[in-house]
Amino acid sequence: MRVDRHLTPSTLRADLEGDVRAGLATIPKALPPKWFYDARGSHLFARITELAEYYPTRRERAILRAHAADIAELTGADTLVELGSGTSEKTRLLLDALGEAGSLRRYVPFDVDETVLTAAARAVAAEYPTVAVHAVVGDFERHLPLLPTGGRRLVAFLGGTIGNLLPAQRAHFLRTLARSMAPGDGLLLGTDLVKDPARLVAAYDDAAGVTARFNRNVLHVLARELGAEVDPDAFAHVAVWDAENEWIEMRLRSLRDQVVRVLDIEASFAEGEEMRTEVSAKFRRERVVRELASSGLRLHSWWTDPQGDYALSLARK
Ligand code: AVJ
Repeated sequence: MRVDRHLTPSTLRADLEGDVRAGLATIPKALPPKWFYDARGSHLFARITELAEYYPTRRERAILRAHAADIAELTGADTLVELGSGTSEKTRLLLDALGEAGSLRRYVPFDVDETVLTAAARAVAAEYPTVAVHAVVGDFERHLPLLPTGGRRLVAFLGGTIGNLLPAQRAHFLRTLARSMAPGDGLLLGTDLVKDPARLVAAYDDAAGVTARFNRNVLHVLARELGAEVDPDAFAHVAVWDAENEWIEMRLRSLRDQVVRVLDIEASFAEGEEMRTEVSAKFRRERVVRELASSGLRLHSWWTDPQGDYALSLARK
């Protein structure tokens, strides 16, 4: 198994520091969602995917189960690249289908978290002895041009993670990805769809409070990685539906007037002040088609679950 590292502990720390400096200086304050995912955050996210309220993972798995064979046949891919692969949990459905179609040679999982990535990559390598596993530690907003090339590639970006990017970031991401693809390569994109706001809010504010702990985890990360003086329990979890932008926003609301000390910054929070920690955009078919087209990709297939909650798109360069 090969591992490429485009992120090291020191570049990660520098990135976190830059995001904290920028995010605590803006009004309203904001931190990017990628800092949720240390070992504890990844574990909490795995628990979220099992919650009754959090439907996207189950819906995506159902669509993959129903259409993995179509995807394998349509793409004929020999390389599966998976962006934000995490535990590679849904990957096996694609690996099995590509294996049955006879084309599969290589699996390229790509993630920011080296620990979770290499553990998942090792497990896949053991389960699929004929598949070459080439893991890449990187940030999909910066290191797409460094992905291994060659062969017929299917790039999978699942889970609805593309919704975490703001519109300008998303346009940049899709354009860079399209540029890194060769004619014949495919993109398999998972997107959560616009639906009843009550269901959306419940999915991001579950009754058991797991998402609240996941949200506050970013403060634990700041405390551990940057020595921040902050009490995570002095912040409440908030999830709101932004109807204009069609995205869910997660925020941390300060429960009192307080000062968070981190690096050389003293960030004052007024009681009730909210800091944005995540945007999770929800899509309609027209928007997916439009955004793919303006980055140079053509939508080939669009599959949803029977309820129309979630969509998988297959696009081609
Ligand atoms: C992993 C980015 C797809 O936006 O739904 C889950 C993360 N945040 N609950 C999402 C998340 C709150 C999740 N993604």
